[in-house]
Amino acid sequence: EDLAKLQYRPPVITIMGHVDHGKTTLLDYIRKSRVAASEAGGITQGIGAYQVLVPVDGKSQACVFLDTPGHEAFGAMRARGARVTDIAIIVVAADDGIRPQTNEAIAHAKAAGVPIIIAINKIDKDGANPERVMQELSSVGLMPEDWGGDIPMVQISALKGKNIDDLLETIMLVAELQELKANPDRDAKGIVIEAGLDKKKGVMATFIVQNGTLRKGDVVVCGEAFGKVRALFDDSGKQVNDAGPSIPVQVIGLSGVPLAGDEFEVVGSIDIAREKAELRAEL
Ligand code: GTP
Ligand code: NA
Ligand code: MG
Repeated sequence: EDLAKLQYRPPVITIMGHVDHGKTTLLDYIRKSRVAASEAGGITQGIGAYQVLVPVDGKSQACVFLDTPGHEAFGAMRARGARVTDIAIIVVAADDGIRPQTNEAIAHAKAAGVPIIIAINKIDKDGANPERVMQELSSVGLMPEDWGGDIPMVQISALKGKNIDDLLETIMLVAELQELKANPDRDAKGIVIEAGLDKKKGVMATFIVQNGTLRKGDVVVCGEAFGKVRALFDDSGKQVNDAGPSIPVQVIGLSGVPLAGDEFEVVGSIDIAREKAELRAEL
């Protein structure tokens, strides 16, 4: 890697936690959107990836947030989210405490070796008991900073927007310590976070670029799929020409549906891509 070309890149922050503890509501508040209310059955089904400009000290800082489903059926998605992430936010409802998928999220974050920030949510509710949540977390080895440990814990209400600025400030502090860098001036590589077939557009894949810049016309290989990137779409569905480090982007032009979690990389020609994809298919 050419050290001179390394530049700051936005942090990728994954929001994890038990079902209905308020992950999407938190992201809705940060993004000023309303996804949670529109989700069928109120349950997040896939990984949502969003670029957000967060105000910190009067400046705008780019961050990328991944929203994961808390339902037990989606363990693989939480694992994937943890894998591409720089920081894990684990949401715990103050009226419910640690539940099975809270523990699973903690395990994924630990396995990925990323810093954990706890958002103790729903403190507006009757029956909210943030102290008890902190005790429960201590007993599984997550000692709150306020009690002399090293895990930042912020008490929030995602619904009312309470203390979200504190949470964002904490996130940016942790991100700063990580000195996240990448080289935008090289061929892109990264991870597939979701992929599927769209009736009109064909194979669609959501990538997170980890290094380099992905451009329209690039030839990529990812898993056993390959192809020329025909178009890129940002998190609002708008066509864009490229996507730099940390940026999530939807891509069309692949020969087949890659697996979520597959790595992708840009290669020099379609022949090379086909050859690499075929080699992988034989393994
Ligand atoms: P999954 O994606 O299904 O795992 O759920 P989630 O963690 O994304 O939770 P979601 O944001 O869908 O919120 C679940 C319910 O809790 C919704 O009815 C929200 O309105 C409610 N909720 C979320 N945050 C708060 C909060 O701070 N206070 C209160 N009172 N309710 C909240
Ligand atoms: Na929900
Ligand atoms: Mg959700």
